[in-house]
Amino acid sequence: MSETDCMEIDWMARAVAQTQGLYPYIPGKPVEQLLREKGLPHAVKLASNENAYGPSPKAMAAMQMEISEVHRYPDGDCTALKMALAERHVVKTSQVLIGNGSNEVLELLIRCFAGVGDEVVYSQRGFIVYALATQAAGAIQIAVPDTAELGHDLHAMAAAVTDKTKVVCIANPNNPTGTLLNNDELQTFLDARPRHIVVILDEAYDEFVADVKSDSLQTLKHPGLVVSRTFSKAYGLAGCRVGYAVADASLLAVVNRFREPFNVNNFAQVAALAALDDEEWVMDKVAKIKTERTRLETAFDGLGVSAGKSYANFVLLKHAKAGDILNELEDQGIIPRPLAGYGLKDYLRISVGTSEENDALLQGLDVALKQVAV
Ligand SMILES: Cc1ncc(COP(=O)(O)O)c(C=O)c1O
Repeated sequence: MSETDCMEIDWMARAVAQTQGLYPYIPGKPVEQLLREKGLPHAVKLASNENAYGPSPKAMAAMQMEISEVHRYPDGDCTALKMALAERHVVKTSQVLIGNGSNEVLELLIRCFAGVGDEVVYSQRGFIVYALATQAAGAIQIAVPDTAELGHDLHAMAAAVTDKTKVVCIANPNNPTGTLLNNDELQTFLDARPRHIVVILDEAYDEFVADVKSDSLQTLKHPGLVVSRTFSKAYGLAGCRVGYAVADASLLAVVNRFREPFNVNNFAQVAALAALDDEEWVMDKVAKIKTERTRLETAFDGLGVSAGKSYANFVLLKHAKAGDILNELEDQGIIPRPLAGYGLKDYLRISVGTSEENDALLQGLDVALKQVAV
């Protein structure tokens, strides 16, 4: 095909028509970009809720071993990983769906069960991907206002469910607000939902609350309940892109038809399997992150910028000049996440880093607060 063949087609006009009203996901600013923009030698990214301690050494070794197999397609069924997850959660392998990050799982579920004219209900400040996936599916977004504490308002969400509702999305803990619902509240919500509604319970940060909440997979009951989890946060494998959902086998059989055949790559499969087998390492890092989270929340309280308790691997900062504080921190090589896109312009979301990274954050914040006070 010659270049002129392609130039005759107005690709932009076609794309605009198809993506009208679709807004893009805006990720945390990459370190390299900040270094370029500011001419800095070093920066700390606290914008994407990654695990600052990195992956388990066992997961790294498994990926190294896998290098020589990269000319082969991955196991399209993720057999070994599915078996390990099924054993872990005491379910059948047919009740496990594995995705290219839990993001893919969420998108597949919404695309599969909600189409043009259907409604998807989620909290106004629930994880942004629910809105994006609903839009992309051509379904109607029902964003329910959150509580005064920025949590999911389950009563209002229940009231928002209509005959057209096909999917409800709940993030627990929620990103970006860090709020938590307990399983009794969730079961009451589920009990009142018709059997055919798919309820996605997104537990990307579950490991950070495992000690304060019962395991949803053992506790909650509803035929349309889908619990999603990820290896990106506690397991430190965000770059591998691997997450999963556990649900009724007949529901997942339908979703599997929408799935790309080789959606989870070789490295992701072996790394996740090895990471699952290194529970001691994961729990040690989760404990460290929780200790550091408490330290940051206490420091934020002292500085008068606290925005309440977080149950995930990030904390929230609240200040009328949050935008200026963001610029000041970036000048010092620290990258937080602005939340204006969620309608929270006075807030910054800051991932819990290593102890040294958090030292740098607190020092930087001290300077930033003095700057914005003048
Ligand atoms: C609540 C929530 N769900 C899902 C995801 C997607 O994570 P991943 O696709 O890396 O599994 C994220 C990522 O930040 C999240 O915060």
